[in-house]
Amino acid sequence: MGTADTFIKNRLDERKASGIYRMLKPENSLVDFCSNDYLGFARSAMLKNNIVAEMAHYPDSLNGSTGSRLLSGNLKYAEELEQQIAIFHEAEAGLLFNSGYDANVGLFSSLPQKGHAIICDELIHASIIDGARLSHANRYTFRHNDLESLEGKLKQAKGNCYVVIESVYSMDGDTPPILGILQLTERYNANLIVDEAHAVGLYPAGLISELGLQNRIFARIVTFGKALGCHGAVVLGSNLLREYLINFARSFVYTTAASFHQLASVKMAYELLKEVDDEANVLRNYIFLFKQKLNNNSQYKLLPSDSAIQCIVVNSNGNAKHVSGQLQAAGLDVRAILSPTVATGTERIRICMHSFNTLEQVKLLTSTLNTITHAQ
Ligand SMILES: Cc1ncc(COP(=O)(O)O)c(C=O)c1O
Repeated sequence: MGTADTFIKNRLDERKASGIYRMLKPENSLVDFCSNDYLGFARSAMLKNNIVAEMAHYPDSLNGSTGSRLLSGNLKYAEELEQQIAIFHEAEAGLLFNSGYDANVGLFSSLPQKGHAIICDELIHASIIDGARLSHANRYTFRHNDLESLEGKLKQAKGNCYVVIESVYSMDGDTPPILGILQLTERYNANLIVDEAHAVGLYPAGLISELGLQNRIFARIVTFGKALGCHGAVVLGSNLLREYLINFARSFVYTTAASFHQLASVKMAYELLKEVDDEANVLRNYIFLFKQKLNNNSQYKLLPSDSAIQCIVVNSNGNAKHVSGQLQAAGLDVRAILSPTVATGTERIRICMHSFNTLEQVKLLTSTLNTITHAQ
């Protein structure tokens, strides 16, 4: 066996031995308490029909985009969609990327330069870390949601400074003290960038718009693969930023543009997002009910969260697997989040609530959780 194969096998064997081997699993018929489809858009027959109807208006549209946006892959439809999305989120401009991962890698690898600074919350998403790593900027992390820790880093930072947070954290479901963070970044002349991947949906245009802070935020990232039920992402910001990214963001420049079908799906999903008050209310009620039923259970540490992501810390990979296994045996699709994806000792059960879950399903979830003993 060659050296590369030996290396690969050893790494995989190490993973298996430490109990964190990752495997793809086919879809199942359990009750969905783990997907990011918060408002049921991915499974919406209405959205599917609307996409088909929209496609029918463009009989000459191509199956594939045939090239990057800068070569043969640009469509007037894509540029109009960017403007519509920007208006929806009350931003000056938007630039589409093929995924949230691409958007973050493109933004953070191209904008901060040598001598500049990127300051991230310690729980920031991997796509932001990867983008920041590709930049030549100095990188800092501050303690999760901790203003004092952030201020310490702002004092150390030199050059153009970018502070990066999520409005709802993907693995904790909590929300940072956005106004306090914004005030600090303003005091230190830093630029605040907010990833809104998990906030859009419960807050239709995102938490920043909900709080009326859109004009004070340097850039926002919205992904379409979560509550919007499709695929892709947009970076929202100024016209100048859009122009810059078109020129320098390599994950925008060097990739085939989204297909017309993908653009039509995003456009129709945004149309639907204008009418989700009822679904968002159902979701809010489920979140309230879930927290109420779990809060009295002393063996579980429920992380503070008002979002659709509710996490229960069970302290070890073994416990996390045990609890998720019990929930799956009861017919509920709930996944364990293991270290090293989260810090050792904070291994957890990550539950995503959805507007399409039924009240009975939510009750089954809480009653099952309340009957499991996890300490092994
Ligand atoms: C906070 C955050 N940002 C970005 C991404 C990446 O988005 P996408 O799945 O569209 O690549 C994710 C997805 O996991 C996320 O949770």
